[in-house]
Amino acid sequence: MGKDKISANENIDAALRLDGDPANVRAFYEDWAANYDLDITLAEYSGPAIAARLLQRHQPDPAARLLDAGCGTGLVGSELHALGYRAIEGFDLSESMAERARASGAYRQVRGGIDMMQAADSYDADSCDAVLSVGVFTLGHVPPQALQVLLGMARPGGLLMVSTRTHYYDQTGFQQIVDQLVAQKRMTLAEAVMNAPYNNDGDGHYWVFRKSG
Ligand SMILES: C[S@@+](CC[C@H](N)C(=O)[O-])C[C@H]1O[C@@H](n2cnc3c(N)ncnc32)[C@H](O)[C@@H]1O
Repeated sequence: MGKDKISANENIDAALRLDGDPANVRAFYEDWAANYDLDITLAEYSGPAIAARLLQRHQPDPAARLLDAGCGTGLVGSELHALGYRAIEGFDLSESMAERARASGAYRQVRGGIDMMQAADSYDADSCDAVLSVGVFTLGHVPPQALQVLLGMARPGGLLMVSTRTHYYDQTGFQQIVDQLVAQKRMTLAEAVMNAPYNNDGDGHYWVFRKSG
């Protein structure tokens, strides 16, 4: 891999160089949707499988209402469905990605064209047993402030589960936002799995928070 490359995979490298502007991110994923699953499988992406099993450790009820934020092509939903969950919803900024998630059959509803930062306009507050976001808190995608938005949709006592690439964690204010939300007693840390497998470019961290109340 060249020194200036973040990822050996051309599309993953380009994704990590996005600027976080929802219009640009959406356009990028509209183009990548058809090849996304192949690229990330070749990159040995293990985020969805790890996230689903971690969620199960904290919320084993198969009837739990789960919201997969930034569901992409539906890999997280498919892992959850295989574990027995049947009340999974998802949304994504990209309609082409969302269409693939719908086709997976793992979700009872998938909405496309939804920006995570505005998702509170589309989902009721305090309504989900768990909100998950895997592969989205990554460079060029969403700011750590998106945590607050997702937390708002979890019910009191419910869970928020996110993955962060290590370089995202190191280069953004993710930990400061976590510290702020914990200090404000809006959530507690239930579990953090640090430096765990993510893909063949590097590791990731997996976070489970419990909403207060
Ligand atoms: C790397 S993919 C991860 C998809 C899926 N969660 C997975 O693990 O395979 C990132 C996804 O986040 C979506 N995304 C990026 N920014 C977003 C935003 N602001 N709101 C909603 N979705 C967003 C993209 O469209 C893309 O589908």
